Amino acid sequence: MGILKCPVCGETIGIDNNCYVCKNRHSFDIAKEGYVNFLCGGHRAGVLIGDNKDMACSRQNFLSKGYFDSLINQIKICLDSFGLNNGCVLDICCGEGYYSSKLAEYFSYQFYGFDISKEMVRLAAKKKSSVTYFVANMARLPINNSCVDIAFHLFAPFHNDEFSRVLKAGGYLISVIPGRRHLFELKEIMYENAYENDEQPPQSDGFALVDTIHVSDTITLNDSQDIMSLLKMTPYFYHTSDEGKARLSSLSSLTTEIEFVVLIYKNNKS
Ligand SMILES: C[S@@+](CC[C@H](N)C(=O)[O-])C[C@H]1O[C@@H](n2cnc3c(N)ncnc32)[C@H](O)[C@@H]1O
Ligand SMILES: [Zn+2]
Repeated sequence: MGILKCPVCGETIGIDNNCYVCKNRHSFDIAKEGYVNFLCGGHRAGVLIGDNKDMACSRQNFLSKGYFDSLINQIKICLDSFGLNNGCVLDICCGEGYYSSKLAEYFSYQFYGFDISKEMVRLAAKKKSSVTYFVANMARLPINNSCVDIAFHLFAPFHNDEFSRVLKAGGYLISVIPGRRHLFELKEIMYENAYENDEQPPQSDGFALVDTIHVSDTITLNDSQDIMSLLKMTPYFYHTSDEGKARLSSLSSLTTEIEFVVLIYKNNKS
């Protein structure tokens, strides 16, 4: 039995003839790439669409070069340390699926990933991994209560109530936020006064923070396209002057620190 439920009526949903269908005949087509769009109403029509195609392709270009692999290695270590042999793992706001598709190669868990951006999920599904990808809003997940063993959540908004609802009691949530020095040298090129990040963990009621791990590395990008792809993955893309962006785009090489804070939470519900 899968973890998914009908986003309209909440009944169990199953695959029938290339569609997910519930007993009340609400039906959602499986796209040719293999993902399903569970957004309903205005959200489905594109009122809230998340990251666009350019951002999705930039993220895919950058991550595929392995620049953030120190992070994926740490997440692998965390998943190993939980000591589960099987179960269900959810990639919250999966983006273009880099992390879940890679991790699914190493573990026998059943992986699911979702994002509100159809473009992101389309790219994720095109990887043809064993992960089940779907389009959904994290504020209203088409997932049954208490059925996820482990969830991970990288550089994305936090939704306390939904994360707690779908995770099993005692289930783990791995949340990653940028560390103090993350991309500091990139910021120094764009801003006169570059600030360090504040490393503020998300508000997380009902979760116990059981471990905090810092991961840091220095990366060198020898390709102007990779440098601009990195910028497009960050909020700085929207908050930087044209001059700042032009300074960055004139570079053929960039060396910058990367730093991640990996927060391990345990779901406290009984
Ligand atoms: C910074 S990206 C991180 C993507 C991925 N975790 C990674 O590290 O490659 C944030 C992602 O959150 C998604 N997102 C934002 N709001 C969302 C929501 N309400 N529900 C689901 N996804 C959302 C965006 O579409 C985007 O793909
Ligand atoms: Zn239904």
